[in-house]
Amino acid sequence: MSQDTIESILQEKRLFQPPAEFSEKAQIKSLEEYKQLYDRAKADPQAFWGELAEKELHWFQKWDTVLDWQPPFAKWFVNGKINISYNCLDRHLTTWRKNKAALIWEGEPGDSRTLTYSQLHREVCQMANAIKKLGVQKGDRVGIYMPMIPEAAIAMLACARIGAIHSVVFGGFSAEALRDRLNDGQAKLVITADGGFRKDAIVGLKEQVDKALANGAAPSVTDVLVIQRTKQQIHMEAGRDRWWHDLQKEASADCPAEPMDSEDMLFILYTSGSTGKPKGVVHTTGGYNLYSHITTKWIFDLQDTDVYWCTADVGWITGHSYIVYGHLSNGATTLMYEGAPRNSNPGCFWDVIEKYGVNIFYTAPTAIRSFMKMGEHHPKARNLSSLRLLGTVGEPINPEAWMWYHRIIGNSKCPIVDTWWQTETGGIMITPLPGAIATKPGSATLPFPGIVADVVDQDGATVTNESGGYLVIKHPWPGMMRTLYGDPDRFRRTYWEYLRPKNGDYLYFAGDGAHKDKDGYFWVMGRVDDVISVAGHRLGTMEIESALVSHPAVAEAAVVGKPDEIKGEEIVAFVTLDSAYTSSPQLEKELKQHVVSEIGAIARPGEIRFTDALPKTRSGKIMRRLLRSLAAGQEVTGDTSTLEDRTVLDKLRGGA
Ligand code: WTA
Repeated sequence: MSQDTIESILQEKRLFQPPAEFSEKAQIKSLEEYKQLYDRAKADPQAFWGELAEKELHWFQKWDTVLDWQPPFAKWFVNGKINISYNCLDRHLTTWRKNKAALIWEGEPGDSRTLTYSQLHREVCQMANAIKKLGVQKGDRVGIYMPMIPEAAIAMLACARIGAIHSVVFGGFSAEALRDRLNDGQAKLVITADGGFRKDAIVGLKEQVDKALANGAAPSVTDVLVIQRTKQQIHMEAGRDRWWHDLQKEASADCPAEPMDSEDMLFILYTSGSTGKPKGVVHTTGGYNLYSHITTKWIFDLQDTDVYWCTADVGWITGHSYIVYGHLSNGATTLMYEGAPRNSNPGCFWDVIEKYGVNIFYTAPTAIRSFMKMGEHHPKARNLSSLRLLGTVGEPINPEAWMWYHRIIGNSKCPIVDTWWQTETGGIMITPLPGAIATKPGSATLPFPGIVADVVDQDGATVTNESGGYLVIKHPWPGMMRTLYGDPDRFRRTYWEYLRPKNGDYLYFAGDGAHKDKDGYFWVMGRVDDVISVAGHRLGTMEIESALVSHPAVAEAAVVGKPDEIKGEEIVAFVTLDSAYTSSPQLEKELKQHVVSEIGAIARPGEIRFTDALPKTRSGKIMRRLLRSLAAGQEVTGDTSTLEDRTVLDKLRGGA
């Protein structure tokens, strides 16, 4: 972000107070109430979290200690016994919620399903019994590779119910990416579907699973459970693949939830970092259940009759915490939509809102920017008056998009919660509480109670002026990641030792830069590491570079993000070729396709620039800063004296 943008942001004068009629009924009703909660949590975190855990969740056995903190390793609710599937399902069955809609699902072709808490419970128990029969036991890892259908949530809850650890892999990832993740987690079972509907086409998920498992390339996987969605012809491998609808017929609906240790692993979710290998972020049971539950309740201000819709995919953390676990734990109605805006129906999101009377809508800034481009006549042609609260997640939101969201979608009356968080944090960390905190377009505002956030310099010292620095968290919280799967050292190094204050304190840092304004509001500026965000999807530049150099034509590759009006950033790859190859539009196409098959369509480079050499320092480091300026079409400024060969820069400028 340029200095000009930062300055204009920090001068933002617009302040939107929570509407009085919203605050009156809200979970947290005023700034004073927020401050009291915040101060109390800060003064005595153990009492704060302990009381909430007792009040909000069901425990088979109470914990001995709220927090055991051996930096950077935390244990929450030590020796407590709990099951998140029980908290999401069973406990609602003895209340009026038994026949309330738990999950409303709308398929892209227009089919739909509603599952009450009682029905969802039944299906989860059946799937839990079915996967047990396939030999899955407590502690085993299960890969879930699914379209956005109810069975995606059912599979997660079924695993949680019997203590199997799920590893959901986004359905847009390629067979190669899926295989790496299955191997890293040593998954025993994969739950998938024949396919899914996306933008008027069929995504062949089972086909990708077959490719991932071909020739014994993922040897830990012994079974595949297949949900029938699209009914297209697929290959079923005898002895390995089974149809869910066959197993369901014989599966009992009686499956008591397994009492899990609070610190038993609940799931692994892979995310990109600044090295090539994706990281398996580990979340455990008790702390994650509490944190996803309470953030959902207060931030989305849940009321009994609300219909809540988050447009994320269950393959991301947003889908885990704020489609499935947080909302079901609260007994809310969560809506799941299979499709995406497409040529045949660019206004489909607004149709869904009108059809189900959605009250709370949570989406990404990229989606909002593309809605703006499609034109306000789409939302205006629908009745969106049911909406009372809007949210955004995944990337910084520019004030213009915020204002459009506020005016056109929110009819200037809905508060907007701009929520900052990460796969690693398990739940939302910095956000307005909509009945309590006044908003400024573009700011995620203030930390959630119990979250001690700060902006610091390289030595970990608080930055006191508005010049910005690293966004860090200074105290453990229940939803925090516990480790990286199979790599505690990398966990320590990446997140806790990047910044080391002189006093030896541990600060959690996961890659974002931020500013704090004079009101203490946080403005998250984006990543300061080699991670780029394309349409709100987090991608490591090294991951894409590794994919490129695995093509025989490529000698070296350097990937940077270039600002993009809609997607936030677009991928630009600078590539040098092996001497046996020459550049051509055909090769450019082939390399783009190669990245798609190595990672997935979300990583397709927007542009590939062939060059004779990459700009490097004398010690051989690629000077990405220069490449970023070149990609953005800006003048290369700043120090270039460390450049090994200055002619490289001239050639690149000349449009090599
Ligand atoms: C970015 C998604 C600005 C940030 C929940 C973070 C944001 C990364 C916001 C995590 C926001 C997320 N404002 N930036 N409100 N929310 N980010 O793990 O760079 O997919 O580090 O989790 O998204 O991405 P992840």
